[in-house]
Amino acid sequence: MVCLCIGLFSFMLLKLREMVLSLEVKPDVPLIEADVAKFTRVMSNIIDNAFNYTPDGGSIEVRASYLPDTQRVLISVKDSGVGIAPEFREDVWKRFQRYEEHALQLDVAGTGLGLSIVKEMVEMHRGDVWFESELGQGTTFFCLATD
Ligand SMILES: Nc1ncnc2c1ncn2[C@@H]1O[C@H](COP(=O)(O)OP(=O)(O)O)[C@@H](O)[C@H]1O
Ligand SMILES: [Mg+2]
Repeated sequence: MVCLCIGLFSFMLLKLREMVLSLEVKPDVPLIEADVAKFTRVMSNIIDNAFNYTPDGGSIEVRASYLPDTQRVLISVKDSGVGIAPEFREDVWKRFQRYEEHALQLDVAGTGLGLSIVKEMVEMHRGDVWFESELGQGTTFFCLATD
């Protein structure tokens, strides 16, 4: 969870954006056994996107909860940003793919590599990553990790 805090608050300080941020880690969430550098990179990439694709005045909520049935930890990063266009949803995971309309609109620099690395790293750790999004309303990324 330290990774989540560092990821969330370093972006807040570095970018000095006007946003409402919230972090909720449920008390029963166990420690996850993971490569700290890789896990921090995964969370930073997802949170970085949430910041970049949410205009000022928006919100970002990071939550972690434990799913006892499957003994897994579910982390979600929900933003109130521009959302992901339906025709781009399959491409977000592909290398070098960016949705130029939104990148131009919000002046976001990037390579389009972030989410392809996220997917590869999460799957390497037997986890899952996916998202739900509504154009113009926001996006929630989910990451399921084993403890
Ligand atoms: N939270 C988000 N809200 C809206 N669009 C997103 C979000 N996260 C990712 N995207 C879309 O997916 C694309 C690919 O993301 P990523 O691989 O991290 O590349 P980059 O951040 O370099 O553009 C982004 O360019 C953007 O169009
Ligand atoms: Mg990115």
